[in-house]
Parts: sequence; structure tokens; C-alpha cells
Amino acid sequence: MTDLLDVQNLSRSFGGLVAVNGVSFTLAAGQITALIGPNGAGKTTCFNLVAGALKPTTGKVFFEGRSIEGMPPENICRMGIARTFQIVRPMRDMSVVENAMVGAFSWTTNVAEARSTALDSLESVGLAAKANARIDQLTMPDRKMLEVAKALSTRPKLLLLDEVMAGLRPTEAVGVVQVLRKLAENGLTILLVEHVMRIVMEVASTVVVLHHGAKIAEGRPQDVVADPQVLESYLGTGFHA
Ligand SMILES: Nc1ncnc2c1ncn2[C@@H]1O[C@H](COP(=O)(O)OP(=O)(O)O)[C@@H](O)[C@H]1O
Ligand SMILES: [Mg+2]
Repeated sequence: MTDLLDVQNLSRSFGGLVAVNGVSFTLAAGQITALIGPNGAGKTTCFNLVAGALKPTTGKVFFEGRSIEGMPPENICRMGIARTFQIVRPMRDMSVVENAMVGAFSWTTNVAEARSTALDSLESVGLAAKANARIDQLTMPDRKMLEVAKALSTRPKLLLLDEVMAGLRPTEAVGVVQVLRKLAENGLTILLVEHVMRIVMEVASTVVVLHHGAKIAEGRPQDVVADPQVLESYLGTGFHA
């Protein structure tokens, strides 16, 4: 089976700073992969390069075998790549379902169709009962899930999640992990940036580790956390899986 996403030798500089440096990895369909590394390692920049928010300095990105690097983000979104942002910014004067509908307007102008898709998205993240709630009635985990629902409404094949569980309590994160597992079981491919290693170990089948913009390790979570270079540069010598 061909890989859904194939990132080849991707680099991006900002002035003299090489934020992403020759990174290559592939994502198999229906798998959850975690992108980890210290702050400033280049994780969000990688997402921006794949989603089209930034153009690479060099390198290639293939999605379903088609070269997509440098394409406008709305085209990449229409091809099937959706992302969430590290900072959640719901539109406060719209209801929960109206927020989720925004994603659907990437592929339809039909309001009824957008609403029905948005309700499905809310259902799959456990927010169906709050569809008509106001944004200020949502808890923090709800808001994170609304971001995911918004992304799902674009009908993606690949979902990029940037620290979607940051700021959640461990018990709240468990609920998110269950939602992500279910989505992957239904065929969605997920690439997530996540700092909490316990969550990474639980949810990801593959881990890619970035450090100073470069990939320093890749593999199964249990192998990656035992990698001396990963321990030294990211997890610290006190880490025990
Ligand atoms: N738009 C930008 N302009 C200049 N520097 C940037 C920009 N975006 C990110 N950087 C820098 O690139 C590096 C990688 O950032 P980022 O991808 O956000 O890291 P991470 O998400 O792993 O914490 C950091 O040093 C950051 O300051
Ligand atoms: Mg980041």
C-alpha cells in the first residue's frame, strides 16, 4: 500500500534560522503518528509546511502520490488535509454547530449539507449534545474537541493535531485519546504533536522525533523512548517509560 503522506528532505529557513532541516517521514493510512521534540524543534513549522501555510525552502511533500508543497492551503485542505491550531480561537458569536460548519464550507455552499456534516463531526468527538450551546458554555476539553470537529467537517483523510491535549487534565486527555483512536479505526490518518509521553505511548503507533529542526529518531514508541539520543536531547536521563 502506498503511503498517504510522503515528506522528503523538507527544510524551511527563517532568515538565518533553519527551523526545519532536511526532514523526511511517511505516514501510512489509518495510523496515528506522533511528532515530538522540545519547544522550538520545528514541529509546528512542519505542520505549516504540510498544510500549505508556509512554503518549504527545499524538499517535497507528496499526498496520495501527488506533489503538494507550495500549493495554497485551501487547495491542500480540499485535497484532504485538515489541521488544528495550537491556540484555539472559536468564533464566539456563533453556536457550537455553526463553528463546526465553517470546515464544511471548504467543500460545499449548501447550508443544510454543511450543518448535517457538522453535526456528524460533533457526534464523533462527543459534542453532539452541545451543538446549540454558546461557545462560552464550553469547557476547555469541549473547545479542543470543537477544533477537531471543525477540522473533521472539511472531510479530511489526514488530520494534523497541534498540541490538542495541552492544558487538559490527565482524565480529560483520556477522553480525547479515545476519540482519536475511534477516528483512526474508521480510517482517518492522524499526525499529532504531543508533549506528554504517556499519551504518545498510548495513542501512537509510530513516533518521529525532531531536535533543532532535524529528525533524530523514528520508530515504535517503546523503541524511541529507549533511544539514547532521544533521552539526551529531549526526555532527559530521568525518564522512565
Ligand atoms: N514565522 C516565523 N518566523 C521566524 N521564526 C520562526 C517562525 N516560525 C517559527 N520560527 C522559529 O522556528 C523554530 C521552530 O519553531 P516551531 O516550529 O514553532 O517549533 P515547535 O512547534 O517545535 O515548538 C523556532 O526557533 C521558532 O522561533
Ligand atoms: Mg509548536
